[in-house]
Amino acid sequence: TSQISPSSSCSSLPPAFHFIGRKEDIVRAGRLTKLVNGCRDVLVLYHQGQLHAMDMRCYHSSGALQYGDIEEFNGQLCIVCPWHKYKITLAEGEGLYQAVDNPTAKPMRTHWCSKGVKQRIHKVTEVNGDVYVTLNDSTETIESDVYQTERYRAVILKA
Ligand code: FES
Repeated sequence: TSQISPSSSCSSLPPAFHFIGRKEDIVRAGRLTKLVNGCRDVLVLYHQGQLHAMDMRCYHSSGALQYGDIEEFNGQLCIVCPWHKYKITLAEGEGLYQAVDNPTAKPMRTHWCSKGVKQRIHKVTEVNGDVYVTLNDSTETIESDVYQTERYRAVILKA
């Protein structure tokens, strides 16, 4: 396949600031998706005064994260994928899951655990009301990388 990793297929130049839009427009819209540097589909969202950026398609099966709700789990803000409800932290891109403490105990108690970083998170910078994204060019493979290909780009995403 033609899987795209940020280090090999995006520019090999040092990390760059890619203009996304005016902050006021992103705040008004709440979310915005953009093909950044011609190689990566990124979701930029505004929530509770903060801007966040991440790969646009869910690491699980390419769900359209731009349609996901934002909720807090265990004190961490997450986007909840509209397809199968996977929870992804906005800060680190960790996948969260609920573990059962003791399956025989009644009532059953659960707690939130991390599966590790699954969604590639990108850096957002604001300068004088202009918002820029710097792609996360870590060479470590992150599961959401799989869906950064022309094949998935051609798919019309639905919630
Ligand atoms: Fe399955 Fe996102 S595609 S939870």
